[in-house]
Amino acid sequence: MKNIVLTGFMGTGKTAVGKELSRMLTMKLVDIDTEIEKSEKMSINDIFRNLGEQRFREIETGMIKKFAIQKNLIISTGGGAVLREENMAALRENGIIFCLNAFPETILKRTSGSSERPLLKVENPLSRIEDLLKLRMPFYKDAGITIDTEGKTPLQIAAEIIGIVKCRK
Ligand code: S3P
Repeated sequence: MKNIVLTGFMGTGKTAVGKELSRMLTMKLVDIDTEIEKSEKMSINDIFRNLGEQRFREIETGMIKKFAIQKNLIISTGGGAVLREENMAALRENGIIFCLNAFPETILKRTSGSSERPLLKVENPLSRIEDLLKLRMPFYKDAGITIDTEGKTPLQIAAEIIGIVKCRK
């Protein structure tokens, strides 16, 4: 089975949907950010603070390439993974790529409980979300099959993704 790859902006539900997919399909879930934290023995926040975003992006690409060559995985990427074509090319090789989307207000609601997003640690996170979304939209549009998450539970989104994967077999 090809990998099922979840991309999309922070707070669009990649991790929650990944967990549902993993449970429903009994496939292993690989969360790229979690793998980075394990290998660097540092939180994403600390990596950004101590090493900088550029170094984080290099580590992220290495981790994506490590898992993209495997099969039968649910791979949940960080929201910025789409920005590097080499990441997407590696993921496309063995995987079907989905891109989850949501409105900025929904993203704000879903991310405001966590302090784990260094890019949103600003005075006005909503305007940061809007700015980043605008900048990244072309990348998200190109990434893969777009899934609208508004008003849906992770279970419903996972079922929708499974339906699409089955049609493509
Ligand atoms: C980032 C998204 C985060 C994490 C890092 C950078 C981004 O992952 O990789 O903070 O650039 O959008 P999530 O999308 O899982 O929050």
